[in-house]
Amino acid sequence: MHTQVAILGGGPAGLLLAHLLHRQGVDSVVLERHPRDYVEQRIRAGVLEQGTVDLLIQAGVGERMQREGLRHEGIELLVDGRRHRIDLREYTDGSGVMVYGQHEVVKDLIAARLDSGAPLLFQARATRLEGLDGVAPRVHFEHEGQARTLDCDYVIGCDGFHGISRASVPDGVFTVFERIYPFAWLGVLADAAPANEELIYAHHPNGFALFSMRSPQITRLYLQCDPDEDLAQWPDERIWEELETRLSCNDGWRLNRGRILHKSVTPMRSFVTEPMQYGRLFLAGDAAHIVPPTGAKGMNLAVSDVRALALALQARYRDGDGDALAAYSRDCIKRVWRAEHFSWWMTSMLHRDEANTPFMDRLQRSQLDYVIDSPAATRTLAENYVGLPWR
Ligand code: FAD
Ligand code: DHB
Repeated sequence: MHTQVAILGGGPAGLLLAHLLHRQGVDSVVLERHPRDYVEQRIRAGVLEQGTVDLLIQAGVGERMQREGLRHEGIELLVDGRRHRIDLREYTDGSGVMVYGQHEVVKDLIAARLDSGAPLLFQARATRLEGLDGVAPRVHFEHEGQARTLDCDYVIGCDGFHGISRASVPDGVFTVFERIYPFAWLGVLADAAPANEELIYAHHPNGFALFSMRSPQITRLYLQCDPDEDLAQWPDERIWEELETRLSCNDGWRLNRGRILHKSVTPMRSFVTEPMQYGRLFLAGDAAHIVPPTGAKGMNLAVSDVRALALALQARYRDGDGDALAAYSRDCIKRVWRAEHFSWWMTSMLHRDEANTPFMDRLQRSQLDYVIDSPAATRTLAENYVGLPWR
């Protein structure tokens, strides 16, 4: 098999890149190791930045999102039982975010890819990359029990944090920056109408909690927990009680309970690989960097990487100009570090860290009060939350 661009991974990064390239007349093959229904049902991100929303619409894959997604123009911070609203629209240039599940974006992108007739192989696991430092790389993969190869001009590693792309690069090429947090998120999806129109980020002595949603019928909730938390210790009743404790408000607001449809534990880390390129291999999305989920940057960063790559590959194939491709990592890394900082900052400001000294706890509280009280600090949160403009 031969193509111009081999894309490893059919998550949001790989599927969106394939779609953008197709619109530009660049051929690609997407290899995804899991079956279609698995990737379409994987519950993950839910908040799309303004730029992500605009890009999906411009690329012709935003129609269902515009119909079913929930536009939000504010978020709430809950501290000491009091809710404080951050008006995203007022503190930015009128921007907001869209609450629309990552798996819905993935479904829309898969449908567009299959409609186009361009290749997207499920249950196709890339096993080895060859010739990345030359001009004709080769991807070895397994598909339907058969060993196969894909020859290409470029390999794009969109295969997530545990994929093979990053691991295929010789030692010493990449510098890795990493921080592992001493907590995780226990996430639940509940068959309950969201009891509030906006997301609520709660700071509580028992730990962080987040009230979110997926649709007018489905509530999404998170609780800070230990990284090695055993889900068996969390029967539904305990989850609801803890959510009610951490999300209790002195204005009488209460959650709606409902059947819990899904539970999971997500560890939290910050991770950056520099540079995001080696020879003809380019890394995008979680393959190159991870953020802790607080502030909802992960998928949005994956989208901004592949937007840059699509433009660079267009310049290369249409105009024969490889400059943007050569500058890909340098151009993306500044935004990556902004999102890394914001996610670390939101995480540190809102979670309870048992290793904190009383001094650190007071500093944390001061930072929260400042974000709530100071228009300048509120704006900092708001402009990062909706996403800074693309270059
Ligand atoms: P992935 O989605 O991980 O996709 C990689 C794909 O590659 C997978 O489908 C995998 O099966 C495939 N693959 C791996 N190895 C191979 C191989 N060898 N061969 C072929 N295929 C392979 N982000 C936000 O922006 N907003 C949010 O609100 C948000 N909330 C989150 C909440 C939670 C609980 C979690 C866990 C994450 C959240 N994120 C959020 C982060 C977001 O989900 C990720 O950043 C996003 O999935 C990254 O997309 P990706 O395409 O780079 O990687
Ligand atoms: C969601 C996830 C986040 O990380 C966040 O900051 C807000 C909402 C969510 O999954 O709905």
